[in-house]
Amino acid sequence: MKSGKRVQRRSRQADGGQPQGVVPTNSKRRSLAKKSAPSKAWTGRIAEPTHQLVERFTSSLPFDRHLFEYDVLGSLAHCQALEKAKILTRTERRALVRGLEQVRDELRENRFPFADSDEDIHMAVERRLTELVGPVGGKLHTGRSRNDQVTLDLRLYLRDHLRTLQARLQDLQRAFLGQAREHLDVIIPGYTHLQRAQPVSLAHHFLAYVEMLERDNARAQDAFKRVNVMPLGSGALAGNNYPIDRAFTAKLLGFPALTRNSLDGVSDRDYVAETLGVLAIIMMHLSRLSEELVLWASHEFSFVDLPDDFCTGSSMLPQKKNPDVPELIRGKTGRVYGHLLSIMTTLKGLPLSYNRDMQEDKEPLFDAMGTVIECLTVYAELIRRLRVRRDVLSGTLGSGFLLATELADYLVKKGVPFREAHGIVGQLVRHCLEHRKEWHNLSLADLKTASPHFSKDALLFLTLEGAVDRKAQTGGTSRKQVTRQMNAWEARLARKA
Ligand code: ARG
Repeated sequence: MKSGKRVQRRSRQADGGQPQGVVPTNSKRRSLAKKSAPSKAWTGRIAEPTHQLVERFTSSLPFDRHLFEYDVLGSLAHCQALEKAKILTRTERRALVRGLEQVRDELRENRFPFADSDEDIHMAVERRLTELVGPVGGKLHTGRSRNDQVTLDLRLYLRDHLRTLQARLQDLQRAFLGQAREHLDVIIPGYTHLQRAQPVSLAHHFLAYVEMLERDNARAQDAFKRVNVMPLGSGALAGNNYPIDRAFTAKLLGFPALTRNSLDGVSDRDYVAETLGVLAIIMMHLSRLSEELVLWASHEFSFVDLPDDFCTGSSMLPQKKNPDVPELIRGKTGRVYGHLLSIMTTLKGLPLSYNRDMQEDKEPLFDAMGTVIECLTVYAELIRRLRVRRDVLSGTLGSGFLLATELADYLVKKGVPFREAHGIVGQLVRHCLEHRKEWHNLSLADLKTASPHFSKDALLFLTLEGAVDRKAQTGGTSRKQVTRQMNAWEARLARKA
């Protein structure tokens, strides 16, 4: 394995020991020293040190260094498996474990001495390990390739981050639930086509987001299942030559399953694409929420006040309080969608198995994951502190004919077919618009002219609360149903915490 050789070579250099295998002649050794130092680029196969431009161009260290915890974790488990397979003695395993722990401390404490020649985090960890523990460091990579190592690292990263994501989704659900509890009795206009349609409870509106986030959580959980599979042992592409107990490594790392095909194991990143799909859908939901908050916080709607410390002013317009946070979250949606498209495009043309193109999986994934977790965190706080303008809401409900359907349903109750009732009420609305009237300006006489089926109780039918509470089936906006839903969510979210 190319990378294995490279590490061995370096360990010898670090140790000052003699190379095993082909011993270079003196003249060759001199030229090697000249060419390779300080670059890592020399391998047995490649005669020239890597060009500086290429070294920088191919390096993944600037972004895959974020994987170091997972890289070390994977290596620690691999050490144990190597000992179990009798490839390492107990003493050697101990030395490697101690060295890896030291490397991890250096990385955690930001004092890890990165070298220009470190192509990626895997090479950096191994190089440093070998510096610290000597030639035995070169044994760590036995039966392993960076190809199975990198996908293991990514899977470990994703297990952690999907869990964090799920916790943040739930936190935002809790924030919405809290607002729902406080606003069961607040009625808002419900919209379709952004035209006033029917009155709904504001709690019902907030719970709609709780539902969306629940499905997002379920999608994350589903992606987790396919992430949670252990690829180590796939080697570069074909498997490995050693009696390494893969199930043992999987158990150490808490994986319930092993990849069953080494070619697939090193070369698919569908779990990255799937995760990005999950993240893109979350952003789609957050972006809709953003759009709504921007509208609701506008002077025209004035349904809500965003917390002052979540808004900015304008450098020129003194009256402005801008909803930057929802706007930015709406804006970042495009970025996350872009990352999904990026991985899909990267993968679509790749023959089996590993191809270096796949190194391009990390930046989109890390950026998307970080972005979505941050958006969820910010939104949970904003939603908790959202102030609902009850005064404005109650003042605006009289207009817009929100109760038109109620009136039609009243006629249906009196035996009028719905289509006919729909037409009668439509004409009444037109009459009102022509005479600049609202429902409450209508007299019983006006109603009777529209249809003889109207009688006194029709006016009683025209209340917002009545309209809301009549939607009493599962999923409807009646206060009874919404209370039932809130109670169910409370129990559910408490369980998951
Ligand atoms: N840095 C690479 C990646 O992120 C992993 C190394 C595999 N490189 C190789 N030459 N086989 O995909």
